[in-house]
Amino acid sequence: MKADLETPRIDRGLDDVYVKETKICFIDGEQGRLLYRGYDIRDLAEHSSFEETVFLLLQGRLPNRAELERTKSELAAARTLPPSVLKLFRSMPEHAAPMDVLRTAVSYLSGFDPERADSTRAANMRKAMRLVAQLATIVATYERSRKGQRVLRPDPKLGHAEDFLRMITGKRPSPERARMMDVALILYADHAINASTFGAIVAASTLADLHSTVVSAIAVLKGPLHGGAIEAALSAIEEIRRPEAAEEYVVNALRNKQKIFGFGHRVYKTYDPRALMLKEYARKLGDLQGDSTYFRIATAIEETVVRELASKRIYPNVDFYSGLVFHGLGIPSDLFTPVFAVARVSGWTAQVMEYWEDNRLLRPLDWYVGPKDLEYTPLDERA
Ligand SMILES: CC(C)(COP(=O)(O)OP(=O)(O)OC[C@H]1O[C@@H](n2cnc3c(N)ncnc32)[C@H](O)[C@@H]1OP(=O)(O)O)[C@@H](O)C(=O)NCCC(=O)NCCS
Repeated sequence: MKADLETPRIDRGLDDVYVKETKICFIDGEQGRLLYRGYDIRDLAEHSSFEETVFLLLQGRLPNRAELERTKSELAAARTLPPSVLKLFRSMPEHAAPMDVLRTAVSYLSGFDPERADSTRAANMRKAMRLVAQLATIVATYERSRKGQRVLRPDPKLGHAEDFLRMITGKRPSPERARMMDVALILYADHAINASTFGAIVAASTLADLHSTVVSAIAVLKGPLHGGAIEAALSAIEEIRRPEAAEEYVVNALRNKQKIFGFGHRVYKTYDPRALMLKEYARKLGDLQGDSTYFRIATAIEETVVRELASKRIYPNVDFYSGLVFHGLGIPSDLFTPVFAVARVSGWTAQVMEYWEDNRLLRPLDWYVGPKDLEYTPLDERA
């Protein structure tokens, strides 16, 4: 620690601070490129599945056919939750936010994990698979339980994304919709040391267990500057209602110094490649539904923001069009951020396990600017 006479440089927001090396995720914010383990996200979106991407993130390489089949079976088998989770859901306050329920349920499930006392890498790898499998079932089960609908058991014959969507909506999605869900999960699976991953790593650095790191990440993801932006972006679209009203809405919001949710990024200074792919899905879903009003509002917002904020290099981020895609797939808006977590848990656990390979307690400094010589006043003498 430095002697305290000279004010140190304070890195508010840690914008340019590197805290670790990684081989998991690379973002080129200037070119709009995103790689998982060296593979371009566009290739993964075209050719991979969520299960394969989970293997890639956790194991560091693409699986062969037998390994992929094993990954699928392992995830499918782990999707079933202990029955008492339903009791937990029913004991939650009415109208509990799904993100709060998800965070609570992951905490709760930590006590049921068969390897809760084992923190070896092999046990953590198995726990990571269980967490990836279970988060999907938690979100879907809570959705149906809170609405008084029949809770659907996981179907191990279906892929992760397809089964997740089926368990939420109550009907098996078309192959096209199942594939959109699958790709959305791939696109959300990791994004380097973003705020929630950093939250997970702070917890990991104390050698807390894997479940605790995921609880920490879910807590951080909830805020509207991070995962909460998806819901906020769709709310704006709903509020605008007509494509012709979008430009005025954006111009007024910017004049009032409001942020437009789903735009801007700490790292991307151009189009987020994930946003471009999700925009295409949002367009397709609008066409499939025979109503592209929301899509047209969204593109009008995009045009205005990109034009008005050109000098600040603000473009749509992943959360702008994903809300439209999730909405089009029949997912209620307060589940958008939980769906983000359902995908990102693969990245969180991969990143945490990588961090543990060279762990160091994260313990930054803050610069004290308060008084130092106050005299203690006894309680009776205070005004
Ligand atoms: C994500 C975000 C927090 C990253 O931004 P950041 O690196 O902290 O950058 P700042 O918030 O300091 O923004 C830099 C400038 O661009 C403006 N800006 C950034 N995002 C903006 C947005 N979505 N709408 C309007 N203005 C925006 C800021 O007002 C600021 O302007 P100023 O320099 O005149 O004060 C920010 O873009 C944001 O709040 N976006 C909306 C929330 C969102 O979509 N989050 C999901 C991220 S994946």
